[in-house]
Amino acid sequence: MKILIIGGTRFMGPHVARRLSAEGYDVTVFHRGTTIAGFPNSVGEILGDRNNLRDFLKEFEKLKPDVILDMILLTESQAKELVEVMSGIAGRLVVASSCDVYRNYNMLRGEELDSNPVERLTEDSPLRAKLYPYRKDVPDENNILHNYDKILVERAVMSDPNLPATVLRLPMVYGPGDYQHRFYGYIKRMIDNRPAILIDENQAKWRITRGYVENCAEAIYLAIMNEKAAGRIYNVGEPQALPEKEWIEKLAEIMGWGGKIIYTPKDKLPDHLKGDEYWQYHLDVDTSRIRKDLGFIEKIDREEALRQTIEWERNNPPAKGIDDSEYKAEDEACGGFIC
Ligand SMILES: NC(=O)c1ccc[n+]([C@@H]2O[C@H](COP(=O)([O-])OP(=O)(O)OC[C@H]3O[C@@H](n4cnc5c(N)ncnc54)[C@H](OP(=O)(O)O)[C@@H]3O)[C@@H](O)[C@H]2O)c1
Repeated sequence: MKILIIGGTRFMGPHVARRLSAEGYDVTVFHRGTTIAGFPNSVGEILGDRNNLRDFLKEFEKLKPDVILDMILLTESQAKELVEVMSGIAGRLVVASSCDVYRNYNMLRGEELDSNPVERLTEDSPLRAKLYPYRKDVPDENNILHNYDKILVERAVMSDPNLPATVLRLPMVYGPGDYQHRFYGYIKRMIDNRPAILIDENQAKWRITRGYVENCAEAIYLAIMNEKAAGRIYNVGEPQALPEKEWIEKLAEIMGWGGKIIYTPKDKLPDHLKGDEYWQYHLDVDTSRIRKDLGFIEKIDREEALRQTIEWERNNPPAKGIDDSEYKAEDEACGGFIC
């Protein structure tokens, strides 16, 4: 089987590419060449920008992939172009989407109201009514985020019966290589042996489905390998969405941190810890469909996943860490809470 991966070099992609290649499949990665994944020689490479996909038509025709995994499909126009270029060339598509398609995501961000929000999101739960989630924050039309919308991506890739697609709605992904360093704030405070971690009392109860990078890669691998995934949409992620406070507690347990978690009203938090989110709206997705259809199961358990994440964050801190003024503000805010 021949697989073309568009993207594939940063976070989840390398796990998928390496696994397929190790199993003897013919894997080619199409990317710009700015991220070096250090693949074995058996992984082929086409260097280019996905925004000029048509320029590579000859290479794609020669390759004739059975499956295309598109990891970086962000806009409707990219998705329409992908389908136009690949229809008649490739067998089927597997596409990385996101749980940000659900209406709950816009409710969390205060962009939509619903008096009856869904507690557990299945693949059939209501989607955002308002498109382009980042347009308000990114007015520059040339910035890709201005036109970002996975709802439109999903619609476009599901539109051609000659090129069946599988859509994977990915959760909040954590683990080594997390370029958003989502657990870093907690881990760093524990490394620095801070006496307390402050969190918005409502955020502490908030639940979002997370997935460990290698486990998400396993779900992607299964969608590539299974013909019956064609035409299907799957939520991906851990079976249980833990409240934020439990993630902090789990990190604390593994790291042996003995400080206090302080649940704080928003108006008492230092500015850098205040969010604009409406934390009563959860992004808790039901992942039973992919488990039942494709036999998805986590390969790495949560404790090991967190150990790996902690180790990686220790050795790969983000360029912008936590500055002293933030700790100072936290100490001041803590004054009123620590006895
Ligand atoms: N991380 C999360 O929590 C999360 C949650 C939900 C959904 N997702 C979805 O997951 C996908 C990304 O996953 P990942 O980071 O694991 O991806 P990945 O497949 O590991 O890596 C993506 C690679 O795409 C390449 N790339 C970026 N722009 C390109 C362009 N214009 N043309 C060609 N190649 C390009 C980059 O390599 P070069 O720099 O070499 O080009 C980058 O390394 C996205 O679709 C995102 O929306 C992620």
